[in-house]
Amino acid sequence: MQDELRDSLQSSDGLPSLLATALEQATQTQRGLHSAAASISSLHSEVEEQRSQLDAARAQIESLEDKSAHLQSENEELKADLEQSRNEAADLRAALQREQEHNRFLEEHIRQLHFDLLAEDLPSLALKMAMRLTGAEVGLFTEADGDGVLAKAGFEDLQNFLEEAVYDYSRRTAQSEEPTVENDPKKLPDGAGLVNLAALPFAVKGEMRGVLLLANKRNGPFTEAECQILLAIGQHAGLAMQNAKLHRQLIEAYVSTVAVLADAIEAKDAYTRGHCEGVSRVSVEVARRLGMENEALDTVRYAALLHDVGKIGIPDGILLKPGRLMSEEFSIIQKHSAIGRDLVARVPALSHLGEVILHHHEWFDGSGYPDGLAGEGIPIGSRIIGIVDAFDAMTTPRPYREPIATIEAFEEMRRCAGTQFDPRIVEVVTQVLMQPEADPATDHLKSQTVESTNIETMV
Ligand SMILES: [Fe+2]
Repeated sequence: MQDELRDSLQSSDGLPSLLATALEQATQTQRGLHSAAASISSLHSEVEEQRSQLDAARAQIESLEDKSAHLQSENEELKADLEQSRNEAADLRAALQREQEHNRFLEEHIRQLHFDLLAEDLPSLALKMAMRLTGAEVGLFTEADGDGVLAKAGFEDLQNFLEEAVYDYSRRTAQSEEPTVENDPKKLPDGAGLVNLAALPFAVKGEMRGVLLLANKRNGPFTEAECQILLAIGQHAGLAMQNAKLHRQLIEAYVSTVAVLADAIEAKDAYTRGHCEGVSRVSVEVARRLGMENEALDTVRYAALLHDVGKIGIPDGILLKPGRLMSEEFSIIQKHSAIGRDLVARVPALSHLGEVILHHHEWFDGSGYPDGLAGEGIPIGSRIIGIVDAFDAMTTPRPYREPIATIEAFEEMRRCAGTQFDPRIVEVVTQVLMQPEADPATDHLKSQTVESTNIETMV
């Protein structure tokens, strides 16, 4: 360009043309520059716009990221809440299950409490149940004065003064008739013995019956719910004990009735004095050795006492007649077993003795009276009483004969085994009567030593 311009300038006639050309070129260049500047400006605008859009997008991304983080945080919280809810639900299910187990445990033991009305250790049963329910290591069950101990457990590991302190709590609770619950060991007497304590007075039908005290529950404090359960146990135990007392009174009344009837027999026939009681004692021991227990044993006991109660209905002229009986008289005297059965049948508490009394003169071979029953068809109580009664009759003086020697009575029993007597029971009766340490009340059954025998005359 410069070269062309120089060449044009060196040519004298070419200067204006050269200038025009240069001007033209400059103009074009300027236009080009303007155009380039416009393009650059446009590009710059585009860049600015894109940058602005980019910033907006970035801000949007940041906002989305914030929202995402927030949502994630909320999600984490929800997850935590859900987990907590799950744990709470599991705890509730476990608590419900424990409650159901407790209820089942309570139901079972309360049923047991009432079932064991006559159990001597009823308070122990209630105390054991309360300790097991709460996990307490020490238990005390006292009477309404807080002093009379019905049952206690876990005192072996307590120091003496702490044992005294426990009794003191029981007495104070009995006096105040208000529950005492202490879960703070610092408020309990000093010494490493007591951790916590709950003493609950319980009443039955509005009357204070006793105090149930538990201490040293290692798995946590005594709760309100546990105290309610303990109160319920105390009340049930008190009620059961009251029922047991009434039941014992009923039994005592029953025994008194039997005793009065037994006395009536003895008053009628002087020769039977002490007889019924001795027969009863030996019969019960024989029955026990034969494996009988509870009500069956009591049936033998009372039936033996009353087996000859029907003699009340036999005329004195026959019952007390010295010498041998005529066959008609013997028939009348044989009625005493049926009369005895009819007599006890009138007393509801004694009626179950009737069958045993009725058959105490049946023979094992079926030739006895009144029904000619044989073998195991004869009630076992009747078979036992029949043998013991016969031994006693043989060794006791009667208006019509003298007693025989004990050894002879044993021989006679053995001779009659299988016919008159059940051989298996004869063996057991012999064992009982031959025991040197036998009850003194049975001594008279083997102390007579006179001669002569007539087992057929026994009635
Ligand atoms: Fe008899």
